[in-house]
Amino acid sequence: MNMRKKIVAGNWKMNMNLQEGVALAEELNEALKAKSVKCDVVVGTPFIHLASVADAVDASRIGVAAQNCADKVSGAYTGEVSAAMVASTGAKYVILGHSERRAYYHETPEMLKEKVLLALANGLTPIFCIGEVLDERESGKHFEVVQSQIEASLFGLSADDFGRIVLAYEPVWAIGTGKTASAAQAQEMHAFIRRTLTGKYGAEVADRTSILYGGSCNASNAQELFSNPDVDGGLIGGASLGVDKFMPIIEAF
Ligand code: PGA
Repeated sequence: MNMRKKIVAGNWKMNMNLQEGVALAEELNEALKAKSVKCDVVVGTPFIHLASVADAVDASRIGVAAQNCADKVSGAYTGEVSAAMVASTGAKYVILGHSERRAYYHETPEMLKEKVLLALANGLTPIFCIGEVLDERESGKHFEVVQSQIEASLFGLSADDFGRIVLAYEPVWAIGTGKTASAAQAQEMHAFIRRTLTGKYGAEVADRTSILYGGSCNASNAQELFSNPDVDGGLIGGASLGVDKFMPIIEAF
């Protein structure tokens, strides 16, 4: 059994109004009080929920994550939310580089590099997402794609800073499709990612880095996915929107 941190993180995406989000967070907090769980639990909420959710939960039970932050420090960037603002809400994490942000909002590896630096500078833990689209997997390019996503946005970091990153491997073809990677596909990619980290930062840093799996992870497949030696938890979209669906994933550890 390795000593890496196990993490189950919800990604609410653009769902629920403020009241619904706070109610879900409170319900999850209550459910966690009654259990002793073996992993860290995180909820990734829309920006407007952050402060209220952080207030509503016990920080020792649930970490709060933003789903994005700006690639600029502050100033005339209408509609943006900075890493410092996210941190000031009590959030401890920020999901960065989600495939939906890359695809729909044109986030580039260079922008993501800035976001990672700003998140770290503000004491936030980035949950950095990587993953190939279906075409790339079918043409056998998935390892190359994932490696270059990591290199382009993260390999400028010092080993100390890299040690504060959580990775989430999310094959794009598995997100919201009900089609998960098999346990073997997930393990194969996670082991590849860890070897890539070992090559750059050495075995100690690589062994300490939590690598989560995301993409149609749910109560019925979580245990099989999480039992792989290099899968350290999950980033959960749809199945994080109800305590009845999210709790069994947390308890899969
Ligand atoms: P999903 O989303 O669990 O709904 O597939 C995962 C994610 O996008 O983080």
